[in-house]
Amino acid sequence: MCGIVGYLGNEDAKAIVLNGLFKLEYRGYDSAGLSLYNEKKQRFDMYKDQGRVAHLEALSKDAERSSIGIGHTRWATHGKVNQINAHPHVSHSKRFVVVHNGVIENYKALKRDFLNGMTLESETDTEVIVQMLDSFAQNMSTKDAVQKTLGLLKGSYALLILDQKHPDRLVAAKNKSPLILGKSDNGFIVASDLVALSKHSDCFAPLDDYSVVVVKKDKVSYFNRENSPVEMVFEPMDFDDNLAEMGPYPHFMLKEIMEQPLVVRTIINKYFDEDVLKIKPDIIEALNNSDRVYVLAAGTSMHAGFVGKRLFEKMTDLPVEVHIASEFAYHAPTFSEKPFFVLISQSGETADLRACLVHIKELKHRVLTITNVRTSTLAREADYFLEIFAGPEIAVASTKAYTAQLIVLTLLAYAYGKQTFDIRKALSELAHAMESYLADFEAVETLAKTVLTKRNAFFIGRGVDYYVSLEAALKLKEISYIQAEGFAAGELKHGTIALIEENTPVFGLISDKRIALNTRSNLDEVRSRGARTVTISIDSLSEEDDAIILPDVHEYLRPTMMVLPTQLIAYYAALQRGCDIDKPRNLAKSVTVE
Ligand code: AGP
Ligand code: GLU
Repeated sequence: MCGIVGYLGNEDAKAIVLNGLFKLEYRGYDSAGLSLYNEKKQRFDMYKDQGRVAHLEALSKDAERSSIGIGHTRWATHGKVNQINAHPHVSHSKRFVVVHNGVIENYKALKRDFLNGMTLESETDTEVIVQMLDSFAQNMSTKDAVQKTLGLLKGSYALLILDQKHPDRLVAAKNKSPLILGKSDNGFIVASDLVALSKHSDCFAPLDDYSVVVVKKDKVSYFNRENSPVEMVFEPMDFDDNLAEMGPYPHFMLKEIMEQPLVVRTIINKYFDEDVLKIKPDIIEALNNSDRVYVLAAGTSMHAGFVGKRLFEKMTDLPVEVHIASEFAYHAPTFSEKPFFVLISQSGETADLRACLVHIKELKHRVLTITNVRTSTLAREADYFLEIFAGPEIAVASTKAYTAQLIVLTLLAYAYGKQTFDIRKALSELAHAMESYLADFEAVETLAKTVLTKRNAFFIGRGVDYYVSLEAALKLKEISYIQAEGFAAGELKHGTIALIEENTPVFGLISDKRIALNTRSNLDEVRSRGARTVTISIDSLSEEDDAIILPDVHEYLRPTMMVLPTQLIAYYAALQRGCDIDKPRNLAKSVTVE
């Protein structure tokens, strides 16, 4: 959700900031803006509007070359999507310029208490920050004005601040919303995400909550929560920029679907030493010391959590509960005596999960984060962390991160459950089977046509296939905007079957022998009421008329295989409907507000 980039150095700030904003587009936004220092006129020039970064690029095409600049993509939380509310925001005296990601919860009180009812130009919560800075800086140093302002803010912020009186410096501050500083011989770049700064940095350092960084051309000064100077610890940049490029594919989503066999192989490489599975012993120890696992997640990651629950139940004796993060944060259930918490998040930045993490830490329980982003807030703040190694996932609709989450959950259940089957071999076979399916999936394009003009669609399955149905339905609705539901196959007849009309598409998922015939009966029930049924099965359970028959893989890895055609159905349905596949309307990749 939204993004920030700032640059100070020897290179062309506009080019670097715009490049960063383009890279952050995938996170979702509605407006974009930029501020650059104009040496000749000795002022910060402003370019901003609703719409895409490409529009901002055109707006700023005649800007003077500058060595300092800040940029923003806005996902509106306070105030309409329009030019005035777009960031940057500037103080009335024009001295301070600010871009902000996040939400200032007490902005109304701040306006009342510190701005004497001043008329603000925009409707945003952000503007109080820039006006307070200006007002405080009249009687104190910029540094003190920044500290005083930050001390009063309640909520989340990643902030970049420019000061007309000190146009040679860039101030960055954060709480909850992510911010990372990158460094090279040519300057400093600060952004919400590694993907926006990797090209211009040799090393990077994620900022801690409540910290402030003052960046000058030749040095950075880092202040911690207590406002004491601390040394910044930089890590070498090992992010492969090419992985975030689209290559020959028309959309990131298709590229990411096709990368799934590669992701399986990467996980094998990262998690196995020869044939030995390496899961950190302290994580297994923590599971040994617990009596129940609580999985917390949102959206697709929660669907992975459901499959994970089933895997734990099959491979271990530890009960698992899965909770919606946004509900759990404020309505936690009664815990068992020795709970262990597992947060699953592709981005590692989901605000609903962060709220859970804060709550769990207050209760002094142990937390494991399973994520794709090792520099993320949830990875850094949890007691333990497992990386899923899916590589950068740019399409808003998650595909390869979901399968990577499933595999890491399988490995965790395997290691803790002391299973002995050859899981490495099973994973290699899975990668191979995925590859062979993805090499020839033409049938899907035709099948996608069955949902094209339909009001709604259903995915049904039993057991673990039900959990995959939930993910299949989410994928279809988020990118094609077709109302889709995932259902436990046996539950449909208890009410929802009333929605079945002539040609309503119902996709049946069958990968579990014990209940394959039951699901087939449920498909018969809806077919006799007019539904257009499409059966997706695995080879050993297939029947002649099944529309998609997938290669057999190890029982525990079948969900990873079953989800592939459903991702492609969603993709082709969205393509045929002319939707913006990689950036579906209203959605953001990383949901950093609660
Ligand atoms: C995935 O396709 C969705 N866009 C969304 O449900 C996502 O899974 C959810 O917002 C959770 O994100 P996270 O995994 O980054 O925490
Ligand atoms: N709350 C601010 C606004 O509505 C910032 C939104 C964002 O994070 O992009 O303008």
